[in-house]
Amino acid sequence: MRIGVLTGGGDCPGLNAVIRGIVRNGINRHGHALIGFRYGWAGVLKNEAVELTNTNTSGILHRGGTILGSSRTNPFKVEGGVDQVRESVAQRGLDALIPIGGEDTLGVARRLVDEGIPVVGVPKTIDNDLAGTDFTFGFQTAVQIATDAIDRLHTTAESHNRVIIVEVMGRHAGWIATYSGLAGGADVILVPERPFDIDEVCRLIRRRHSRGNTFSIVVVAEGATPKDGDIVSEFGGATDAFGHVRLGGIAVALEKAIEERTGYESRMTILGHVQRGGTPVAYDRVLGTRFGVEAIDAASDGDFGKMVALRGTDIVRVPIADATAKLKTVEPELYEEVGVFFG
Ligand code: F6P
Repeated sequence: MRIGVLTGGGDCPGLNAVIRGIVRNGINRHGHALIGFRYGWAGVLKNEAVELTNTNTSGILHRGGTILGSSRTNPFKVEGGVDQVRESVAQRGLDALIPIGGEDTLGVARRLVDEGIPVVGVPKTIDNDLAGTDFTFGFQTAVQIATDAIDRLHTTAESHNRVIIVEVMGRHAGWIATYSGLAGGADVILVPERPFDIDEVCRLIRRRHSRGNTFSIVVVAEGATPKDGDIVSEFGGATDAFGHVRLGGIAVALEKAIEERTGYESRMTILGHVQRGGTPVAYDRVLGTRFGVEAIDAASDGDFGKMVALRGTDIVRVPIADATAKLKTVEPELYEEVGVFFG
C-alpha cells in the first residue's frame, strides 16, 4: 500500500513518536510506502510531500514538534478544496490517509470519509478533549510542564505573601487545569466547564488566609469564563479557519479583580505555548508510538473511517464520527472531587 500521513492543528509533544511508529510498522512489517504531507491539510491541498523512510524518521522519538510541520488549514473553507485533496491522493497513488490531529483536523477527516476518501485518524491534543479515547498523547507532557511551573510559582508566592494566578491552556475543556492544579496543590482551579463567581473565588482565598496561610495559587484554564461575562481574549475577536478565537488573558483580569477585592498582592503568569513545546514525557512517547502502530494495522486491514484510541490500557479503533461528535469535557464528579482542596 501507499499511505499518506499528515499532522494538523496545534503541534503537540509526541507527534514525532506517532510518525516513527507509523513508518516502522508500515515499512518493516507491512512493506508499505509512506508519504508525509507538509503542514497538515495545507500540504495535501498543495500536494507538497516527502517520502518517509526509516532513515529520515530516525532519532525523532524524543523530539517535540513535528518533523512534517503543521497548520490550521481547513480544506472545506477553500474553493475546490475537497477536489484538490482527492487529486493529491490520486496523483500520489495513495490507498489511505492517516491524519494526526484534534477536533478540527479529525473533523475534516470525518467529512472526507463521507466523500469516500479512505482515512484512519490518530487523536492528538494537549487539551485531551477528544471523545472516544481516554487520553490523547501530549496531554501528560503539558500537565507535567504546568505542574513544574506551579511548583516554582509556589515558592515565590510564599516568599512574598502573594496570590499567584497561573493561566494554562484548554480552550473548551479544563483537563490541563484540573490535572496540573491537583498535582501542583492549587488552592482554586477554574475551568471552562464551570463559569466562576469572582466573589466565591475571593471567599476561598480569604478563608485559606484566615487559617494562617499567607499565599495562594489559583490555576485557571484560558477558556474559563466569569458567570456574568464572556470568554476573555486579549487578541480581539479574530477567528481561525475553524472559527476559534485566539484565547489568552483571563489571568490578567483575575489578578486585578482578586487584588482589588481581597487586598492581597497578586501576580499572574500565562504559561502559553511553553506547554506545547519540547520533549514529550515517556507516557506520551509510548502512547503516540502505540497509536502509530495501530493506525497502520487499521489501514492495512482496510478498516477506514476509524480513529485509534486508548480504552483503559488497550489500543482500540472507534468510528471517527463518534470521536468528533462532541468534545470530552471535565466531568462534574471529577471537579467536585478536586474541590475538596479549594480554599
Ligand atoms: O488546541 C490546542 C491549543 O494549544 C489550545 O489549548 C489553545 O487554545 C490553542 O491550541 C492555541 O493555538 P495556537 O497555537 O494556534 O495559538
